[in-house]
Amino acid sequence: MKKVIVTGGAGFIGSHTVVELVAAGYEPVIVDDLRNSEERILNGIETIIGFRPTFHRLDCTDPIAVSSMLDEEGDVHGVIHFAADKAVGESMSRPAMYYRNNIGSLAVLLSLMRERSFKHIVFSSSCTVYGQPDSLPVSEDSPDRNASSPYGETKVVCEQLVRRQCEAVPGLKAALLRYFNPIGAHPSGLIGELPRGVPNNLVPFVTQTAAGLRDRLRVNGDDYDTVDGTCVRDYIHVVDLAQAHVTALAWLEQAEPQTCEAFNLGTGKGRTVMEVVNAFQKENKVIVPYVVGPRRAGDVVSVFADTTKSREVLRWEPQLTLEDAVRDAWRWQRALAVKA
Ligand code: NAD
Ligand code: WQD
Repeated sequence: MKKVIVTGGAGFIGSHTVVELVAAGYEPVIVDDLRNSEERILNGIETIIGFRPTFHRLDCTDPIAVSSMLDEEGDVHGVIHFAADKAVGESMSRPAMYYRNNIGSLAVLLSLMRERSFKHIVFSSSCTVYGQPDSLPVSEDSPDRNASSPYGETKVVCEQLVRRQCEAVPGLKAALLRYFNPIGAHPSGLIGELPRGVPNNLVPFVTQTAAGLRDRLRVNGDDYDTVDGTCVRDYIHVVDLAQAHVTALAWLEQAEPQTCEAFNLGTGKGRTVMEVVNAFQKENKVIVPYVVGPRRAGDVVSVFADTTKSREVLRWEPQLTLEDAVRDAWRWQRALAVKA
């Protein structure tokens, strides 16, 4: 079996990817220090796949720890690097922490991969690298790189670092996956997102409001130039996103040495905040109390993906709908409430 190191494999997107890697016949090895995740996600993975994957609890910015883990693991087919800090607001108040973790962990991994001649890396990037694009849908060659937070800047720098490494290291190949807005959870209700504190992201806030943990959702502005005045995003089911990592890895195996390509991972469909709230209410037959508040500082008005490249080159496209995602998100929220 082909062994794949999954950094951040206990996290939201990483845990779902571990499940899909197993389904595709790979052997995932989870590397995570659980700074933003919990053991219970490993239990959920175990229940879904029927065994507990190898797990190393360590900090990916620690070269000695990562090096000895790689020595222990031996022959590694590829690395999927999810581990990063991801809260945009926190990155404004702690920029050095974001640069240190997000760029530092990648630099450590790339150096150690080079020493060991590992060939494949899949990197978690983000549509945040586009800022507010000049034209929509946004394609991978969009020139706009107006990332508006230290978090976003780390993704721009990391992409550049991976590109440079591919130019410099014979045989290395990379996929830079630019996620749009991942939502939902595994349909089993056994794994999903674990937001810390008050969620900043829309769907976790919606699920917590529906569950009565928050009084009401605040819709951040309804006076934008969009169909209903609320901001537009491209929401993608996390299971579709997870499968895209497996597809990207298989694509890299066939690619020319020194390939480094970026791919948009979204649905290609823009949805407003109110469309998401309404879909959630309708699909789950629950009420989400909300008020309309002011605009959120720094919000992009509208962004959704041009998916041509991922469809034509990777031959990947999402299978699940917004309705699937809001249903699965709600199932996960209820499972959390039962366990709490
Ligand atoms: P997450 O926080 O749920 O998962 C990240 C995991 O990495 C966590 O389990 C955390 O404990 C771990 N981690 C962080 N730093 C680490 C370190 N130094 N050593 C070991 N483990 C570490 O986040 P997620 O939503 O699953 O995001 C995964 C990746 O996708 C991140 O790189 C994120 O920037 C990127 N991304 C996420 C979104 C999103 O909306 N969720 C969108 C675009 C890109
Ligand atoms: C979506 C829309 C909000 C909460 C962030 C990061 C981005 C990426 C994904 C990692 C916006 C509105 C939200 C609420 C609301 N992450 N909203 N009330 O802003 O697209 O992106 O997560 O790479 O980098 O910036 O996602 O879920 O925060 O917001 O009205 O309580 O929902 O204003 O219009 P966003 P989001």
